[in-house]
Amino acid sequence: MKKDFLAITDLSREEILQTFELTSVLKEKTRRREAHPILAGHTLAMIFAKPSARTRISFETGMFQLGGHALYLSPQDIGIGKREAIKDIARVISRYNDLIMARLFDHAHIEELARFASVPVINGLTDYNHPCQIMADAFTILEQRGRIEDLKIVFIGDGNNVAHSWINFAARIPIHLVICTPPGYEPDEKTVQRAREAGLSRIELTHDPREAVQQADVLYTDVWASMGQEQEAEQRKKIFQPYQLNMALVKLAGPDVLVMHCLPAHRGEEITDEVMESEHAIVFDEAENRLHVQKAIMVKLLGKEPH
Ligand code: CP
Ligand code: NVA
Repeated sequence: MKKDFLAITDLSREEILQTFELTSVLKEKTRRREAHPILAGHTLAMIFAKPSARTRISFETGMFQLGGHALYLSPQDIGIGKREAIKDIARVISRYNDLIMARLFDHAHIEELARFASVPVINGLTDYNHPCQIMADAFTILEQRGRIEDLKIVFIGDGNNVAHSWINFAARIPIHLVICTPPGYEPDEKTVQRAREAGLSRIELTHDPREAVQQADVLYTDVWASMGQEQEAEQRKKIFQPYQLNMALVKLAGPDVLVMHCLPAHRGEEITDEVMESEHAIVFDEAENRLHVQKAIMVKLLGKEPH
């Protein structure tokens, strides 16, 4: 049975921890420039319906470092669900490539892609979630703090795809997760309910940023208008202003708090220049770790772990 990675909850706690172990091994090999052609002769098809810097660069570079090859397919190339039915392109690509990574709008579309593909499908972001991002973020926290379990992670901003992946992470690994949004921008109720039912993590929803950040280990934010919501951007700027991650809010959390952002950041909106450039920010470490963690995910999905 092939395995996909469409959500953090596709992995067990054990699998998440094993992925982090392999990530460390691959990161060290990369750092030493030690060749590790674990996926030699393998190819990855990357389908993008939305723009990307990090996701494209890290998957394409990662596949090259693993000895394989990645193909970039732009919105014009595939036109998923428009030029061709998803179930057709899923089967066509499966005849050429060993892996598919897709960044799509509708989460149901990536589920359909995975259902009809005979090769593993990796979610490179949908309107619903962004699991590769949160795997990289959690790995970064582990590197910085030596542990992640029971840390207080506060997500401030829109209850969006990145927030949903944090909630799904909390369904597998015990953390204290606070999602702080303006009223009306809370994360998906079912996702929250399922994560709470998993019974591992404390998951709080709040509208008060000053209260939320108290004793936080990590403050996390993301854009106020995600890709596909550009027409709401101006209206959201007003609504989200009290949720800006600025130095006053960071100071309320304490001197050792880590600041994270999946990037791209809109400096001066959800996060200030000062916070981005402060010692608290580890945003470029998390961006780097996309590369290492995704390499581990690809190796594991293809069952090629080095022994
Ligand atoms: N964080 C992230 O996924 O970045 P891109 O949209 O640039 O890929
Ligand atoms: N929430 C953002 C994340 C970008 C990586 C978006 O979907 O645009």
